[in-house]
Amino acid sequence: MTEPKSSPSTSSETGAILVTGAGGEMGHALLAALAARFGGRREIIAMDVRELPKERAVHATDAYACDVADSAAIDDLGVKHDISEIWHLAALLSTRGEKNPELALKVNVMGSANLLKLAADCAARRGSSVKFMFPSTIAVYGVPTLALKRAAGSVTEDECLEPITMYGVNKHAVEEMGRYYARHYRLLAADRLDCAVDFRSIRFPGIISADTVPTGGTSDYGPEMLHAAAQGKPYACFVRPDARIPFMTMPDAVRSLIELSEVARAQLSRIVYNASAFAPSAEEIAAKVREFFPKAEITYAPTLERQRIIDSWPENCDDSAARRDWGWKPKHDFDRAFAEYIIPKIKARYGC
Ligand code: SER
Repeated sequence: MTEPKSSPSTSSETGAILVTGAGGEMGHALLAALAARFGGRREIIAMDVRELPKERAVHATDAYACDVADSAAIDDLGVKHDISEIWHLAALLSTRGEKNPELALKVNVMGSANLLKLAADCAARRGSSVKFMFPSTIAVYGVPTLALKRAAGSVTEDECLEPITMYGVNKHAVEEMGRYYARHYRLLAADRLDCAVDFRSIRFPGIISADTVPTGGTSDYGPEMLHAAAQGKPYACFVRPDARIPFMTMPDAVRSLIELSEVARAQLSRIVYNASAFAPSAEEIAAKVREFFPKAEITYAPTLERQRIIDSWPENCDDSAARRDWGWKPKHDFDRAFAEYIIPKIKARYGC
């Protein structure tokens, strides 16, 4: 998935910013960050399948409770607002997607198709390309055996793309749809508009937030272990102690998306980038949690389904393209993540 260097840059500094999945875990952090950056200067439209709580809706100029799979409602947003950027976060994660693959397909693929079409329609109305930011995932990777996972080590963007979950299949399909819209989709009779949809994506590892606990994902054991310890609750980890995948803190995840959105298109050699930070085993996370919460009760009760998913994800991701093209660098490595972000914030949150 490489991008020709001659690709035109985009102009989306004006116009409204639409955020889908604004009620989700990443939406929570991203909406606040976008409001801090653009609030008062640009319209920020928040959308979620459920009505947003008041404290979250304050970050948006308009908030809609609407399903991404409802194509008429999505089209209507483009009529009501002059949208120049779409941050499409809404998705069903890997564990939830395996419980209801048909719903995952509808939300993750059909919903994304509706949003990509909205981007193209809005670009046609404005006469300039619409930026489309898409958080993808390590779930697009699929390593067939544990031995091969260990042998593969840190994978590049183009290796091991045989996902075993519906979520991984869906996210990979949307990356491809994004590539199509960015490289090959041209508007009829709009010769000047070289690129209607400026699609940019990051494959995120498991994300750890001190403010929120994820639901429906398979990397959830990391944050769950931590939030349980901070609340003095016992935790039975659903994967083996040796399970290893990459993780990143939520502030780094949000910053990476914002930084990627601000780079000139001509600087980007790819449509989709890996971004990594640290890659501890479940046992290393548990040991780190115990450093700060010595009474933490962590046991292991691996489940077949979730262990199988984690075993299929790579131990780490090679993010050298992101580092080279747009200067990606995580602020938090494993030690700093805990010492400087997670522990101070989580202690303040739970008053411990
Ligand atoms: N956090 C996601 C999940 O566990 C992976 O990107 O499904």
